[in-house]
Amino acid sequence: MAKKLHIKTYGCQMNVYDSERIAEVLAPIGFALTDTDEDADMVILNTCHIREKAADKVYSELGRLRKKKNQKEQTGGRMILGVTGCVAQAEGAEVLRRAPYVDMVFGPQTYHRLPEMVARTAREHGHILDTDFPEDSKFDSLGEVRTAEGATAFLSIQEGCDKFCTYCVVPYTRGSEFSRPVAQVLSEAQNLAAIGVKEITLLGQNVNAYHGLGNDGSDWSLAQLVREVAKIDGLERIRYMTSYPAEMTDDLILAHQQVAELMPYLHLPIQAGSDAVLKAMNRQHTVADYKVIVEKLRAAVPDIALSSDFIVGFPGETDADFEATMTLVEEVRFIQAYSFKYSARPGTPAALLESQAEFQVPEAVKAERLARLQALLNANTLDFNLGAVGKVYPVLFDRTGKSPGHLVGRSPFMQAVTVEAEDHLLHTLQNVRILKAGPNNLHGELVQDSLKAKA
Ligand code: SAH
Ligand code: SF4
Ligand code: F3S
Repeated sequence: MAKKLHIKTYGCQMNVYDSERIAEVLAPIGFALTDTDEDADMVILNTCHIREKAADKVYSELGRLRKKKNQKEQTGGRMILGVTGCVAQAEGAEVLRRAPYVDMVFGPQTYHRLPEMVARTAREHGHILDTDFPEDSKFDSLGEVRTAEGATAFLSIQEGCDKFCTYCVVPYTRGSEFSRPVAQVLSEAQNLAAIGVKEITLLGQNVNAYHGLGNDGSDWSLAQLVREVAKIDGLERIRYMTSYPAEMTDDLILAHQQVAELMPYLHLPIQAGSDAVLKAMNRQHTVADYKVIVEKLRAAVPDIALSSDFIVGFPGETDADFEATMTLVEEVRFIQAYSFKYSARPGTPAALLESQAEFQVPEAVKAERLARLQALLNANTLDFNLGAVGKVYPVLFDRTGKSPGHLVGRSPFMQAVTVEAEDHLLHTLQNVRILKAGPNNLHGELVQDSLKAKA
């Protein structure tokens, strides 16, 4: 009988992708995924180190799992406990010090070695710590065969980051920028399409800086790659994230105009609306640069929708700096955004700045700024959603709804759309007339013509 594997994933989409691949690596040695840690034979936490709270969560979760592990051992069983992801990479030894009952700590670049690690935990007592950045990419051992289920899938094409924004841990936890070769990406995309995937999101910390080796011996850009991926039979939608503003080339903007499969939605984090703050963040773009990119995108694809991330309370951020962020948000009108209070991360240059009293933004000020920014961002999202009412959108149904007889899917702009529809339409793309809109989702009805057209 298969052993039970539970993986809990935190952080970004790259972790979601890694968790899927971890499950694929463990399947041949007898582990089958379950969605609970109840009675699991192996539990893996795939962690995020981006903000302090994200890292703290890991330790409280480990405390809880320790009890389960003990219970299982008292009844003669065994639960292997593993920690991977960016906390493992950043502070692997610290994880083992604070939670010595953890069996395996491994980084995002070494999980292809899991079968060997599991065999070692069975043989030896003590823990395994493997947070190397191996010479050979994990992707070479993983291969391109995928077992993803459903209509949508993530595909990591680029990892690591050389941008060194002064607040960010990613360049340390994920290492330096690396792009997978074109042939490898195309082969994985073809395999996904062959198992029924209709929408692929190409992932990378700086996905638009992609420069993978092409079959012709030259480095390919993301725009070139997207054009090839779009030729794959069965793939109806392509997305990519996360993009770095300074890497947004004219050719990529052109691809948005030319490639019908490329969705008119772009996550392009600006982080702040003040040049002084952007400079202190080492972001390599000014507010004016960003606005030029937005203009070009909108000239190429008039209905393109944008989303962003924001950090408030960056060390030294003044009231005027923050107001500049508010102004930018009013001007650009993002349809969606994530915003966070600045969180000092050990070892980053911004953390050093924050250790000087004159640069600290008081917690109450951070909280107030965040609340104001979020109110504005939420209002923009709601406006955009309300503007959808009466329109017909293609929706890719990717899950069943909470109430029976309903399916939920995504509009081209990533809005969740709930529709009364029969189960056989799951994993298909249908035209939907939007009837109602709220802050987080839309409701609509199938447009009957599209059903006939597809039948
Ligand atoms: N590569 C992406 C983002 C990766 S992290 C980019 O360049 O935009 C995701 C988001 O977390 C960031 O966009 C940023 O808004 C936020 N973030 C990163 N470090 C942070 C920190 N130290 N404090 C608060 N938010 C942070
Ligand atoms: Fe972090 Fe900046 Fe790299 Fe994004 S671009 S991962 S924010 S260092
Ligand atoms: Fe978090 Fe690592 Fe992603 S720090 S956001 S899981 S790259």
